[in-house]
Amino acid sequence: MSLYSRITGTGSYLPPRKLSNAVLVAELAAKGLETSDDWIVERTGIRARHFVADGVFSSDLAFEAAKNALQAANRNAQEVDLIIVATSTPDMVFPSTACILQNKLGANGGIAFDMQAVCTGFVYALSVADSMIKTGAAKCALVVGAEVFSRILDFKDRTTCVLFGDGAGAVVLEASDTPGILASDLHADGKHVGILCVPGHVSGGAISGDPVLKMDGQAVFKLAVGVLEDAARAALTKAGKTEKDIDWMIPHQANIRIMQSTAKKLKLPMDKVIVTVDQHGNTSAASIPLALDYGVRNGKIKPGQTLLLEGVGGGFTWGAVILNL
Ligand code: ACO
Repeated sequence: MSLYSRITGTGSYLPPRKLSNAVLVAELAAKGLETSDDWIVERTGIRARHFVADGVFSSDLAFEAAKNALQAANRNAQEVDLIIVATSTPDMVFPSTACILQNKLGANGGIAFDMQAVCTGFVYALSVADSMIKTGAAKCALVVGAEVFSRILDFKDRTTCVLFGDGAGAVVLEASDTPGILASDLHADGKHVGILCVPGHVSGGAISGDPVLKMDGQAVFKLAVGVLEDAARAALTKAGKTEKDIDWMIPHQANIRIMQSTAKKLKLPMDKVIVTVDQHGNTSAASIPLALDYGVRNGKIKPGQTLLLEGVGGGFTWGAVILNL
């Protein structure tokens, strides 16, 4: 049994089709939906997002991100004994996307399951993997966030279809004698199910209910700003740290205004916040590991630094993790 778990490699993958606001606005206009680059940038900070091609699934994106993370950690797939895929857009109703990924990687035999906590999924998954490593259930975990949100968007609803994108991010989390994951703080409040959901389900061989994303944007915004500060402070207290110890905040990339407001409440300057929402849009459970990998690979985030990861999403779910890289 190990005292700690530590991230030893990060990876990510974005599907090649990148749509700038201008391209998306033109595509939507052709379908009779009016929006603009100005509106999207001003309200959200989003300038572009990636969409998968037909026939590409979350497990395909997860596979590419996981390969990159394994390479960075200098591990091969056979050494992985736990795979958790955080996703709200699984390949199938069942089996889990984690099992499909496990088979694609040739990592068969270990533990594999999906984590459903919408945009907080990666934070939940990292915390669960940390606990499993600390109890000795696993030694080398792949924790992945992977989404094809373009599949569940209503392209007749301009209040939501401009916000989201597809992608995947992954980390290798290993048993360690030195501290990596320091603390986490996770929450959910199911009374808010209706403000952000895809209400449809499969029944009797058909889809029953609406199989596209529904959101009360303003209700989400208000809740998000409050709970993210609380979770960050609670995780910092558990880790015996203060906001002054944070080298980088890596928030869920939903909206630049939510990120700015959380940073302000935590008295963190924006140059300590990793921002990818402008280029990725909101990739739900994939957004935090995508932003983490972006920060690591472009040299901003360095080994030994203290990171705050925090997410909020449908459920309503929210949480934060403090870690040393
Ligand atoms: N283009 C042009 N106009 C638009 C668009 C659009 N794409 N979408 C909405 N509008 C219009 C509305 O119709 C409204 O017009 P009206 O005043 O004539 O009625 C006007 O813009 C303002 O609409 P609001 O909804 O009040 O806009 P708001 O400033 O609240 O911004 C937004 C909307 C961006 C969705 C914001 O509420 C937000 O970011 N909320 C949080 C969303 C979020 O982060 N979701 C993800 C959570 S994570 C997860 O689990 C998936």
